[in-house]
Amino acid sequence: MDAGLKTISIGMLGAGVVGSQVARLLQSDEQELSERSGALLVLKKVGVRSPGPRDGIDASMITTDLNSIVTDPEINIIIEVMGGIEPARTLILEAIKNKKSVITANKALLATHGHELFNAADAAKVDLYYEAAVAGAIPIIRSMRESLAGDQITRVMGIVNGTTNYILTKMHEEGREFAEVLKEAQALGYAEADPTSDIEGHDAAAKAALLASLAFHSTVTIDEVYCEGISNISIDDVHAAKAMNCVIKLLAIAELTVKDEISVRVHPVILPNSHPLASVRNAFNAVYVESESAGELMFYGRGAGGAPTASAILGDLVAVTRHRAYSTVGYGESDYADLDIAPVGEVKSQYYVRLHVTDKSGVLASVAQTFASEDMSIQTVRQSGMGQDAELIVITHRATEASLNACVKKLTDMAIVSKVESVIRVEGAVA
Ligand code: HSE
Repeated sequence: MDAGLKTISIGMLGAGVVGSQVARLLQSDEQELSERSGALLVLKKVGVRSPGPRDGIDASMITTDLNSIVTDPEINIIIEVMGGIEPARTLILEAIKNKKSVITANKALLATHGHELFNAADAAKVDLYYEAAVAGAIPIIRSMRESLAGDQITRVMGIVNGTTNYILTKMHEEGREFAEVLKEAQALGYAEADPTSDIEGHDAAAKAALLASLAFHSTVTIDEVYCEGISNISIDDVHAAKAMNCVIKLLAIAELTVKDEISVRVHPVILPNSHPLASVRNAFNAVYVESESAGELMFYGRGAGGAPTASAILGDLVAVTRHRAYSTVGYGESDYADLDIAPVGEVKSQYYVRLHVTDKSGVLASVAQTFASEDMSIQTVRQSGMGQDAELIVITHRATEASLNACVKKLTDMAIVSKVESVIRVEGAVA
């Protein structure tokens, strides 16, 4: 190693599952990482909220005084892996004010306060990198931000939450109910003790906001993302999707509408088995990007876990250190387009509607008439009789969410409809 290399000191906020892996790799691979960065990388301080020893981290580095890390004049780069909005936001702003570049894995923070943080980084002429915030190890941020910067992205669809993908995979492959699989996932450590953020789609919504911002050069926040989770997906829907050669996935979708607005949403989707995202199983993540010149691209890999997430953080560290070594910074986020968010009622999809009706003549015609009254054209209807009752599965052509909601309300009010069991959006060619 070049003895004349500049030393770059690192302070890390957080030493949990991800932080401990970053510390381990930073120390074990110090020489290689330094050679690749063009500077001698040294982990100087690790900030934790509860005092005490941490495996693999020298006690002399550990402090509970997080502010002392972000204000330390000898520290050049901050790695934030503590999560949550506060105190992470205040600490990052303080670090930026003190001219430190920042690497963060904090999707909730960026999807809420990204504009403020990126502006602060631009003003201070420091880097703010966040590859680990979306889909863990998958290099999707840099790919969209840099490699695809010369193209026009038209749509991004991602399986960006491993917990829900694991649950949906088990339901599909083993025919088990949601609640049972969730319990098993918690016991195996795939799902959190409080799984709300994952199963209700909030974690995916933060990632959708970041992907939409990058794809369309605009600032999109988590509260602008329409969000539905998977807790209402029943095993009957899973079986019905399977019978149609489809699979149910929770997707984060960001797309450009015909009015040049951004439609950004997280919800379950029925996907044909032939779609590349349909084959993404268990806790794996994938992001499928459609763009004008490159066409379709798919990025696949591990979306969570200590070492995979640390890989993305260390990649950012090498990039940011290369800038530091030459006393420069990379170009900040580009949000010049400033596109509006499309109202969810105007967004068009195909729909799967499963309902129970009285099994007698004329019922199908009345149901079809109700769809027609809301300008919803039907692609296919499947019926299975059950004595007095019949189950209808209607797949519609594309229609707006507003039409769908009005149609479902009318169906629910019909005497011949005992229940509208479920409504799921459909992507791709479903027969
Ligand atoms: N809890 C997330 C998941 C990982 O299940 O994929 C962190 O975003």
